[in-house]
Amino acid sequence: MKFQKHIFICSNQKEEGKACCGLENGMALVEKFKAVLKEKGLSTQIRAQRAGCLDACKFGPALVIYPEGTYYKNIQITDVERIVEEHVINNREVSDLVLNWD
Ligand code: FES
Repeated sequence: MKFQKHIFICSNQKEEGKACCGLENGMALVEKFKAVLKEKGLSTQIRAQRAGCLDACKFGPALVIYPEGTYYKNIQITDVERIVEEHVINNREVSDLVLNWD
């Protein structure tokens, strides 16, 4: 496997007025994840990248981390460091940000 984990961050832009992650810092989140991973020397093992709609628009900004397939909702720039520390490095879900589909 090339990457140990893959973080897909929705940066989808919908028509004006419709809820979407792109209007809610989607690209800023992508850049922040990349910066934090680089700062921690993880860029070659963990990949963060923009994604299209993850079908979680009303919970956005949204992202999903594989191989676990864990979705996170309403992510703010200030949450990025915690997600990297907890989920990416320590393999512990950040429970208050997890999107449960049930
Ligand atoms: S626009 Fe981001 S999940 Fe649909």
